[in-house]
Amino acid sequence: MSRSPIHSALVLGSTSVVAIAICQALARQGCRRFHLVARNANANQALASELRERFGADVSCEQVELLASSPKPPQLRESFDLYLITAGCLGDAERARHEAEEALAITAANFSGLIPWLTAIVTPERIQKPGCLWVFSSVAADRGRPSNYHYGAAKAGLTRFCEGLLLRCHGTPFAVRILKAGFMATPMTTGKAPPLLCAKPATIARDLLRRPHRRGIEYIPWWWAPLMLLIRLLPPALAAKL
Ligand SMILES: NC(=O)c1ccc[n+]([C@@H]2O[C@H](COP(=O)([O-])OP(=O)(O)OC[C@H]3O[C@@H](n4cnc5c(N)ncnc54)[C@H](OP(=O)(O)O)[C@@H]3O)[C@@H](O)[C@H]2O)c1
Repeated sequence: MSRSPIHSALVLGSTSVVAIAICQALARQGCRRFHLVARNANANQALASELRERFGADVSCEQVELLASSPKPPQLRESFDLYLITAGCLGDAERARHEAEEALAITAANFSGLIPWLTAIVTPERIQKPGCLWVFSSVAADRGRPSNYHYGAAKAGLTRFCEGLLLRCHGTPFAVRILKAGFMATPMTTGKAPPLLCAKPATIARDLLRRPHRRGIEYIPWWWAPLMLLIRLLPPALAAKL
């Protein structure tokens, strides 16, 4: 397996606060080629300009809406050292309880809409060469909770799908890394999670880049692993209060 530094990255969900922190950290380490895929073209251009102006990076941008009813199949003509998937959204859990449209939108943004991309990335040819795929899942995948079971179910589907990819790539130079993130200080958690429990995106980026070629399923930060073990063991009467 290659231990070489990451020189190029494709990012799906590049306007995510965590993706921005990872791109900045990658650029500081010498990554000079980025393909940024995001829904918000203006925000994507802002990151592209920063990477070009501060680091002299070669950056291309692409706009994508994961909820599109007939999405264009992803065209990946170039190979990258890192494929980073940070797209995802919490959605409106309350509305999803009684409106299937919102329930399906949450599923598409966090799972089904990503499948064409994951399929285009993990090809038989690509996995014979060194490369990495990092996918942001969530601790919410570990147990259904009354407050966000649509999001949790979508992330659980994503996790199982990517675990299949991870095992398919076992023994190849292509490393699949599934990140079960706990709370991070981004707009997704504003007003929803205690700030003290929210990891800083820059810290997450630094920690992930310490072992860029790692493969497997990991909790970020690590201490969510014992906490989620405890949460999975809670009896229904207590879990219902989560
Ligand atoms: N923040 C947390 O506490 C937390 C915890 C566990 C897991 N995660 C996961 O970690 C990842 C990054 O999270 P974050 O907090 O950095 O999120 P964020 O800042 O809200 O970014 C989410 C990204 O997903 C994109 N996206 C959402 N819906 C989309 C759609 N329909 N089509 C295309 N793109 C769409 C957003 O694009 P726009 O800019 O256009 O909205 C943005 O690029 C997500 O997968 C999230 O589920 C986050």
